[in-house]
Amino acid sequence: MRQDSHKQEAARAALNHILPDLNPRSILGVGTGSTVNYLIDALAEEKDQFEGAVASSEATAERLKQHGIPVYDLNAVAPPRFYLDGADEANKRLELVKGGGGALTREKILAAASETFLCIIDESKEVDIVGQFPLPVEVIPMARSYVGRELVRLGGDPEYRAGFTTDNGNIILDVHNLDLSRPIKAEEAINQITGVVTNGLFAKRPADRLFVATATGVTEKAA
Ligand code: A5P
Repeated sequence: MRQDSHKQEAARAALNHILPDLNPRSILGVGTGSTVNYLIDALAEEKDQFEGAVASSEATAERLKQHGIPVYDLNAVAPPRFYLDGADEANKRLELVKGGGGALTREKILAAASETFLCIIDESKEVDIVGQFPLPVEVIPMARSYVGRELVRLGGDPEYRAGFTTDNGNIILDVHNLDLSRPIKAEEAINQITGVVTNGLFAKRPADRLFVATATGVTEKAA
């Protein structure tokens, strides 16, 4: 599929960007999703260039280990120099919506803890205003109905992601029709609801660099 080869090209471009800065003691933060899976496959070819990785999900940890890349606990290592991850939407300010794969909380922790956040997308994810993609919100299970009502008060239409449990043992509400035209305000307001673990807006901590795969090659944008 064309979109798959685009994702692969963007992943390789991001990896080429960081290679000169890596050394055998470097730890990388690694995100989750189909784009990141291409990145992990590319990282496997360069595994002598860095020490190992911290994973944003069990699925990513598993794939890294299958490639022989050591996986560390975030608490046991120095802050990662780079965090690399995909996104579901990105605007011009490199503010993102993430969490389509349900790994948003650990992704947000790694984005916060890492020095530089590189985001890898194909051009279908570029938007003027984030919010077409339903916003994933991770919620403590007993708070599901309460949080749902509060999200309706904020103007959204929450939809329970049936049959899905996050790596942290929680549920996801995918919220449609929210006004996310002021992403930082929206991120803060939703995170204020008791029972919300976090939401998939990455606006307070946006990406530092965006690699966008297009039909004519990969373009690079900096915040
Ligand atoms: C995982 O929870 C997400 O944040 C992913 O980063 C996002 O959904 C992008 O995934 P794809 O690379 O599969 O499109």
